[in-house]
Amino acid sequence: MKPLIIAIDGPSGAGKSTLGRRLARELNLLYVDTGAMYRAAALAVVAANVNATDADEVARVAARAEIELAGDPDSLRVMLEGRDVSAEIRTEQITRLSSVISAIPAVRRDLVRRQREMGARGRGVVLDGRDIGTVVFPAADVKFFLTAVPEERAKRRFEEDHTRAPDLTFQDTLADINTRDERDSTRADSPLAIAEDAVVIDTTELSVEQVFARMLDTIRERQEDF
Ligand code: DC
Repeated sequence: MKPLIIAIDGPSGAGKSTLGRRLARELNLLYVDTGAMYRAAALAVVAANVNATDADEVARVAARAEIELAGDPDSLRVMLEGRDVSAEIRTEQITRLSSVISAIPAVRRDLVRRQREMGARGRGVVLDGRDIGTVVFPAADVKFFLTAVPEERAKRRFEEDHTRAPDLTFQDTLADINTRDERDSTRADSPLAIAEDAVVIDTTELSVEQVFARMLDTIRERQEDF
């Protein structure tokens, strides 16, 4: 049987990874956090002491980086060169740098190729990112685009982050989200965009449970085996 591909795209803080993990667990599919791959590549760039403005060098480092997603959806570990970097890739520096290097076409080509390979494995896969339904898997079986107003997304991010970074203010988080959205949506190569055939869900006023139920209904309407 051909693997089932579920694409989840949207801006940061829209709930993609929370919902992606839950769907993968519920449907017994692999979960691929593609943002974590760009983050791991950014960490490799820092470790190699390469200037982020040197696109060729950045692409070379990213192409050589051994990135692995290990474990099940709830305890997904991100490995770089065999080392668990799950926590290190969530710092403010790496968050910003991952958005910067993800605009480099050669970096994207390499990571997209790896994502396609991951999607071809097993029974199926849930991928979350910015370009899954538009570029990585344009023929995905089900495509979702999750969004929410920036203030709500910043609120969720702030609640997650401020225990780890007590000096962070809500205004910092909102400004960061706006800058990142702007960069991710306006880059020339594979900008964040809504696929024509995506199911768009605005999660601003919805609970995780409500979004989950809506997504699961959509998948089951289309895929009777699941
Ligand atoms: O989803 P995230 O915040 O972990 O992603 C980190 C950055 O990587 C984000 O700013 C944009 C980029 N990204 C991308 O360009 N394409 C993807 N498929 C996933 C993430």
